[in-house]
Amino acid sequence: MSSMDVVVKGKCYVEGRLYDRCIGVVDGRIAAIGANIDGERVYDFGGKLILPSAVDAHVHMRDPGATHKEDFATGSLAALHGGVTCVMDMPNTDPPTTTVAALREKANIAAAKSYSDFGLFAGVAQGCDPAALSAGVIGFKMYMAGTTGNLHVPSLESIRNELAEVASTGKVLAVHAENEALRGKGAEKSLGDHLRNRPNECETSAIRKLNNLAVPGLKTHVCHVSAKESLRFVSKSKERTFEVTPHHLLLDQDSKLSTYGKVNPPLRNRRDRQALFNALKEDLFTIVASDHAPHTIEEKEEDFDFAPCGMPGVETIVPLMLQLVRDRHISIQTFVRVLCERPAELFGLNKGRLCLYRDADIMIVDLMKSTEIKADRLHSRCAWTPYEGMSGIFPKAVFLRGEIMIEDGAWIGERAGRNVVESQRKPVEAEA
Ligand code: DOR
Ligand code: ZN
Ligand code: ZN
Repeated sequence: MSSMDVVVKGKCYVEGRLYDRCIGVVDGRIAAIGANIDGERVYDFGGKLILPSAVDAHVHMRDPGATHKEDFATGSLAALHGGVTCVMDMPNTDPPTTTVAALREKANIAAAKSYSDFGLFAGVAQGCDPAALSAGVIGFKMYMAGTTGNLHVPSLESIRNELAEVASTGKVLAVHAENEALRGKGAEKSLGDHLRNRPNECETSAIRKLNNLAVPGLKTHVCHVSAKESLRFVSKSKERTFEVTPHHLLLDQDSKLSTYGKVNPPLRNRRDRQALFNALKEDLFTIVASDHAPHTIEEKEEDFDFAPCGMPGVETIVPLMLQLVRDRHISIQTFVRVLCERPAELFGLNKGRLCLYRDADIMIVDLMKSTEIKADRLHSRCAWTPYEGMSGIFPKAVFLRGEIMIEDGAWIGERAGRNVVESQRKPVEAEA
């Protein structure tokens, strides 16, 4: 066998099982998996786990327009530290990513700054041109209700033509599903008030509407499912996919987070949280994504009514979910499916799996090493976390396309983030 550029050794997750193996990398892709492989640079991690690193299909990098909260450099570096090597950025920036000009501007910014690979969503608005946007985007995003950025559409009927055009691009339509008409507008002083203004039915009815929408060929992806009643509408099909976030699985409105727990859809009750958790275990959700939505401490310290909605999460999603694996709440198979394999598959990326020809996006994990999550050890510009003091398992090392980026909590790589839409060749499906 010809020599590899890089070899990574350890207990490798291959096709659902762990084996002592070497992964050989040539030109950033997995070129061999075997018991003994030689290469120019060999990283031997002994008995530690070698897993595919994660694809976070829902992040808000705030660039351009709100870089005091986050920018592509800080957000993508946070991602890498947390074992996420590819992020998909949402369009509610300033300017919103609803035109080809805005998309180009964002693509240039991200290409110049990103440490992780990235894909960009375009926003669906009345009069937008999905056909023109399609070539540069990983997917489309539609907001059914008002939230950060004011991109919400007046009604599904009003953008039928645009949705038909999205369908003909073949790309996924990610949806923020809340029903604007069922939103309360009362003053808010607490997480309980925020929940009363966005009750379960506000989400459930939006998902129901979306499921009933008949636009031939449209692939809808419901972001951040949060209400137990919504689970009735969660089904498994290639045309309809569903996402859950760590915050809706792990936090609820009884938390003492106050404005820091203000998010849309809201943190709900313990019973909702438990129902979501069971659904995750039953493999009802297609993916888990962070909805990383950073705001500064100063902004979150505003009066409850004025504080913005959203919380950071791109650096903690993998550590929190690995902790659940360690505590035997979910299996390692579920972890890899919902954080690596399926997000890659859903968006057509050549990532998310340790098999031949895939990008060598890899993380090294020691399930025995939990640490306390602390904001001052994290890398988002927003400088806080709703998970302060909780346990997490951070990856020991992270490789992006075969190059080591993170080791023992330190950045030791060279910035190499790429736009997956521009750079990815079609996934090779021939692997064993
Ligand atoms: O809480 C939220 N924050 N929900 C959203 O839909 C948007 C996000 C943000 O961008 O801040
Ligand atoms: Zn949303
Ligand atoms: Zn979001």
